[in-house]
Amino acid sequence: MPTVTFITPDQNRITIENADANLMEIAQTHAVPGIDGDCGGVCSCSTCHVYIPDEWRARVGPPGEDERTTLDFNDAVRENSRLSCQIEMTEALDGLVVEVAPSA
Ligand code: FES
Repeated sequence: MPTVTFITPDQNRITIENADANLMEIAQTHAVPGIDGDCGGVCSCSTCHVYIPDEWRARVGPPGEDERTTLDFNDAVRENSRLSCQIEMTEALDGLVVEVAPSA
């Protein structure tokens, strides 16, 4: 089962093994600070905002159209922004590292 590491805005690294849900759900299950998931994962709140490091962007992929629309309302949006509720962990993402956005 894949492993994912969250880097919090204060630079703490939280590594979670056997990650088999979407990143927002994984973060909430493991009490990762800064991932609130207020809308429950329906892509409408951006309180699950993360940044994808360059080396992972191709494998994670770009945001979908609805996700991009939601991100556009977030002041901290960057080119490498994603909503973690829209990223499903798979074996192909084993070892993934994401940064929790300050305003997530
Ligand atoms: Fe609301 Fe991800 S949990 S957009």
